[in-house]
Parts: sequence; structure tokens; C-alpha cells
Amino acid sequence: MSTHSHPEQVTAIVLAAGSGRRMKSARAKVLHEIAGRSMIEHALVAVAEAGVRTTVAVVGHDRDQVSAAIAAHDPSVVLAVQEQQNGTGHAVHVALESLDTPPEGTVVVTYGDVPLLSSQTLSELLVDHRAAARIVTILTAEVGDPTGYGRIVRDRDGAVTAIREHRDADDVERSIREINSGILVVDAEFLRHAVASLETDNAQGELYLTDIVGRAVAEGRPVGAHVLEDVWQTEGVNDRVQLARIGRELNRRITTHWMTEGVTIVDPDTTWIDSAVTLAADVTILPGTQLLGATVVAAGATIGPDTTLCNVEVGERATIVRTHGSDAVVGADATVGPFAYLRPGAELGEGGKIGTFVEVKNSQIAAGAKVPHLSYVGDATIGEGTNIGAGTIFANYDGVNKNRTTVGRHARTASNNTFVAPVDIGDGAHTGAGTTVRHDVPPGALAVGTSGQRNIEGWVADRRPGSTSDRAAREAQSAPTAERTEH
Ligand code: UD1
Ligand code: CA
Repeated sequence: MSTHSHPEQVTAIVLAAGSGRRMKSARAKVLHEIAGRSMIEHALVAVAEAGVRTTVAVVGHDRDQVSAAIAAHDPSVVLAVQEQQNGTGHAVHVALESLDTPPEGTVVVTYGDVPLLSSQTLSELLVDHRAAARIVTILTAEVGDPTGYGRIVRDRDGAVTAIREHRDADDVERSIREINSGILVVDAEFLRHAVASLETDNAQGELYLTDIVGRAVAEGRPVGAHVLEDVWQTEGVNDRVQLARIGRELNRRITTHWMTEGVTIVDPDTTWIDSAVTLAADVTILPGTQLLGATVVAAGATIGPDTTLCNVEVGERATIVRTHGSDAVVGADATVGPFAYLRPGAELGEGGKIGTFVEVKNSQIAAGAKVPHLSYVGDATIGEGTNIGAGTIFANYDGVNKNRTTVGRHARTASNNTFVAPVDIGDGAHTGAGTTVRHDVPPGALAVGTSGQRNIEGWVADRRPGSTSDRAAREAQSAPTAERTEH
């Protein structure tokens, strides 16, 4: 998405002081997420990408949570506290008061709970406002059910004359289907004086920002509406049903975007992609896949089916099947899964393999190295071309400390090994099946378990008398010899 620049100064005011009661959440409404970003972040990204330099966010309910999240996202955003939510006009007044110097040029007002509003729409709104030389331009939309919204009142010539809030509207006005999105662009100087003279003579006893429209008309200043066809962009979120609905629509937009960029998405309905994910051309995504956070996938890679990756970097032509991964790196031409678990710090080199039922954490597996089956690799460094046998456990935790294991280049370790860290296995070393490696293995050596198999006869009869094992053993021992030696 491009950054659009504007010749004159633009200040954004993002309203986010409302209560969000209907979310029924300990978390502030605007901090609920879709596509991996909170709603307030979506709003702040949109104004920033539209080229706005100065942004004021008005906070009130849950202000500690909301302020902290905004500061973490962008510390340059000015925070204005609205102690009591006396209406959108009051919120804008509070925002203007919080600035050291009053804004000049143009002010754009948006909401923190309208997450689909795009930077492109804001830019078009600003361009339209400037081209028509208006004092106020409101973003409007025609909707099927306008209940609850402010209505756009126009005269016979179609010129906007006022915004009437639903609760203040008469039946004729309520039949108007063109609604106020709440988003508007306004001349800064006009906004300051218009907001200062708002009154509360309305059904809700609030200071309505929307009254500045009637005020401009009364003063004979040019007012207009920018009608948006894409109604989704004007929709606010008040409850979790709307959150899911808008979240699905955003996902539809994101998957559509990547398909137009050359990504094959076999089933967009079951594929979820966060806003910050980056995909190259000719990536293939199979059904049931979630690509989250700052995941980056290079050209020709295939992900899925049924895979979740969060903050994972995937190299060219890599294949990741039925895998759960986070904060990991998969090299070019590498293969992962099915049923692999990549935990933070897992790094697989070019052409390497992490196979079936393998869990990897904080480990570097070099180019061409393979961990194909049923293993846990924790805090390890595995050299290039090395093969780790099936069912190997890197025992990294002694109950107190986590220790590292290193395995050199082109080593061949056998099935069912335990590497008790800290331990080093040299380049080209081999191990025998079932070996517990407690001591370093020099390059080229074969490590085998020292204690061979010993059978302690009668142990079960001695230590587990009367158990089902004891009974089965006795039955086997008393059976005729011929029958027993048959197999
Ligand atoms: C407002 C508009 C209405 C429009 C609708 C679109 C006014 C008077 N009405 O309605 O014309 O159709 O939005 O959704 O402007 N907020 C504050 N402080 C306040 C009040 C609100 O920060 O004191 C914030 C809310 O958090 C929210 C936004 O402003 O993000 C809109 O508030 P809300 O109460 O949802 O809007 P309405 O007044 O219903
Ligand atoms: Ca609302």
C-alpha cells in the first residue's frame, strides 16, 4: 500500500473514547483484533498511510490500556483524554485543546472502531475536499438499514444542508438511506470556531460534531458529501458478531489482494492472512492455513494444508505441511511436516528436513541436515548434511538449567538416541541404536551404549507377584514346550 502525500498540512483526530459495552470484554473495544491488528491500529495505519503527519487519539474508557497500545504502535501519536464522553463534538474539542499549537490546514476526523476504512479512501476524500474547495466534506454511504445512523439531509438541488441524528430525526428524515459515516474532512480554522460554539439542545444532550455541517450551511460556507460505494469501509464494530463479520470481510480483501499479486490460494474461505504478512508470487496456500503476524513467504513455497505460521520466514520453494510454527525460519527448498511443531528460534537451513512428529525449539539445523521422524530437538546446533535417527530426544533440561547439544557436519545418529546436554557430537561421528549419549563423541567415532542387554530372570514373580504380568508369565512358562517353540 502506497503512502500518499498532500501538499498542505493535515492533522488527524481519531476518536476512541467510547465504552464498547456490548463487547462484554475486559479488553477495550478498540484493542480487539482483526487480521492481527487491533482496530485502533488499523485506524492509525490508515491515517498514516494517507500521509497525515500529526495524529491525535482521543481516549476515555479503558484509557490506560488504549493509551499504552497506541504509544507502543506509534509514540508520535498525541493522546488526548476525554474524561466524560459528552459526544463526538466534545471529543474533537478535547483533541484540539491537547495540541500545543492549534492545527492549520485541514483536519480529518476518523473513528477507532471502523477498521476497514482504507488510506486510499481517506486520500480520495482529501483530494475531493480540496478540489471542490469546501469547508467541510463528510464521508457518506447509502445503506439498506440506516437505523441508528445520522442521516444526510439534502435540499431540492441535492446540496447537503444538515446531518440529523437518528434520535432527533422525524419520519421523513428517518426514511433517508444516505448515512453519515462519522468520518469527515474539515478546514482547521472553521473546525475550531464551530466546535467552540456547539450546543447540547438535542435528544441525547451531547455535543454533536455533526452540527458543524448545519453551522457551515448557515454561514454560507461550501459543504458537501463524498459518497462511498464500498459501504464496508464505513462500518463500525460494536459487538463480537460485527467483529467476526468485519474480520471475515477484511480477510476476503487480503486474500483477494494476494491472489491478484500471483499467489495461489486454493480455498480463500479457510485461509486466514494477517495484514502484515508478505507473500511472493507463485506461493501456493492449501486449505485450512493461517499465516499470521509478520510471516514472510518467498516465491514458489507451498504452505498447508492445515498449517498455522506466526512470524515465520519461509524460503523459496520450501514445503510446509500440517505444521504449527512461530518465530522460526525455514530455508529455501527445505521441507517441514506433516505434523511438525516449530517453536521460537527454530531455524532450518537450505534443503533441510524437519519431518513427522518433530518438535524443534531454539535450534539451528544446517543446510541439508535432516530430522525426519518422531524427535524433540531443543537448544541444539546440527551441522550440514547430518541425519538424526528416528525417535531422538535432545535432553536439554536437567530440571534446573537448559543446556545445548551440538552435532557436527555429516554425522549419522541412529534411532532412539538420547543426547544428554551439554554434549558435543563431532563431525562425521556415528551412534548406535538406543544409545544415550552423555559424553562428547569425537569426530569420526562410533558411540554405542556401554551396558548390553541383561535379562534378570524371575524379576516379575519376585517384585510384582499376583499382577496380570505375573499371571501371563506363569501361563507362558507352564505351557507345553512344543507349543512355545512353534514360533
Ligand atoms: C456518530 C454520528 C452519526 C454517525 C455515526 C456513525 C455524531 C453526533 N453522530 O453516531 O452521525 O452516523 O457516528 O457511526 O457524531 N466517541 C468519543 N467520545 C464521545 C463520543 C463518541 O470518543 O464522547 C467516539 C466513539 O468511541 C466512537 C465514535 O466516537 O468511536 C462514534 O461514537 P458513537 O457513539 O458510536 O456514534 P454515534 O453518536 O452513535
Ligand atoms: Ca457507533
